[in-house]
Amino acid sequence: MQRIEVKSLLLGLKCRVCGTVYPPRKVQICMRCFGPLDPVYDYDKFEVNKREIERRPKSLWKYIELLPILDRSKIVDIGAGFTPLIKAERLSKYLGSSLYIKNDGLNPTGSFKDRPASVAVSKAIEWGDRVVGAASTGNLAAATAAHAAKANLECYIFAPASTEIGKISQTLAYGAKAILVEGTYDEANRISHVASEELGWNIVNVTTRPYYVEGSKTLAYEVAEQLGWRLPDHIVVPTASGALLHALHRAINELIDLGLVEKKNVKLHAAQAAGCAPIANAFMKRSTKVEPIENPNTIAKGIAIGDPSDGDYVLKVLYERGGKATAIPDEEIIEGIKILAKLEGIFTEPAGGVTVASAKRLIEDGTIKPDEETVLLITATGLKTMELIEPSRDQVIKIRPSIEELLKVKL
Ligand SMILES: Cc1ncc(COP(=O)(O)O)c(C=O)c1O
Ligand SMILES: [Zn+2]
Repeated sequence: MQRIEVKSLLLGLKCRVCGTVYPPRKVQICMRCFGPLDPVYDYDKFEVNKREIERRPKSLWKYIELLPILDRSKIVDIGAGFTPLIKAERLSKYLGSSLYIKNDGLNPTGSFKDRPASVAVSKAIEWGDRVVGAASTGNLAAATAAHAAKANLECYIFAPASTEIGKISQTLAYGAKAILVEGTYDEANRISHVASEELGWNIVNVTTRPYYVEGSKTLAYEVAEQLGWRLPDHIVVPTASGALLHALHRAINELIDLGLVEKKNVKLHAAQAAGCAPIANAFMKRSTKVEPIENPNTIAKGIAIGDPSDGDYVLKVLYERGGKATAIPDEEIIEGIKILAKLEGIFTEPAGGVTVASAKRLIEDGTIKPDEETVLLITATGLKTMELIEPSRDQVIKIRPSIEELLKVKL
């Protein structure tokens, strides 16, 4: 039997607005209309069957046909992907629906950003770039820095000065240089664009943008595979720039078009923090255009992006699929973190608290029915944002080291 070569089926990049197709080169946006570019693949050549995919090593790279790296030898792999999908029995009972948790906090650097970072840094190597970087609210910084370390590349991070110290320390540990900008994420992002232009640095979410987002599609492929090649009814997605939600939308369409799963209208829901909810605000008004927010103010700093680059496209996906957008206040975010930890033993950063609190609201308002299946994306660990849940005095008991002392304490 002839062995089929396992490689990317990437054909080129297609403009989301005017449809112009470009060869798969170093282009960031459509040169005709400045629209975003999405990779297109030679789907007719997709010949791998489900059993073979299941047998491949448990990594995001098992879906190489649908990822944009042409030279396999350039892949930078520190073990991202194939994180557990867990049936959340206690949380399901508590909230009154059938819930699964995709625990992406278990990626190598503790967030789903290892997926796009792995793809982007691999692309940088393919292009022969020696300097990479990222504009980040913290998680992409660490993910890019870790992959750059593995590939022996220089790495520069642009992040708001208010980014959690845990995320910055982690980024520095991988050997990257952190440039902390006194301002918002959007301001840090603007400077990173200039650095990409003027200094030639490969800023992964700027220079490599059309390719980078492809890594996030693997979250949807994995959910389908882990459910036994089925799609859930709903996915709740913590949303900042909107790149993740839009990538999931494309991945679900690909799974259906390739015949890997049966057709189903999966409702994608955008979960935002009330202190930075440009997409949810537009959704409430049934608008098709996002109005940027100047000064985000929420404990969910990881998803505090006031001017989301894929915002309008997220709105389109929500309207098309019948999904909703929610804006969650900080108290509910903390409550979400706590119930996930106490009921399922999973500790998340605020972005995951937003997901849980959003699911609660969607179940309460009848959007998610008791008999439907929902996947909650827990996109990062809580270990990087410890300062948010400082223990109160009545939670911690201090004693001298004797059993008499212990017996004296009212537990
Ligand atoms: C933990 C976490 N979840 C979700 C997101 C949202 O991703 P996106 O910007 O693709 O909407 C981010 C973005 O930084 C994040 O850090
Ligand atoms: Zn165009």
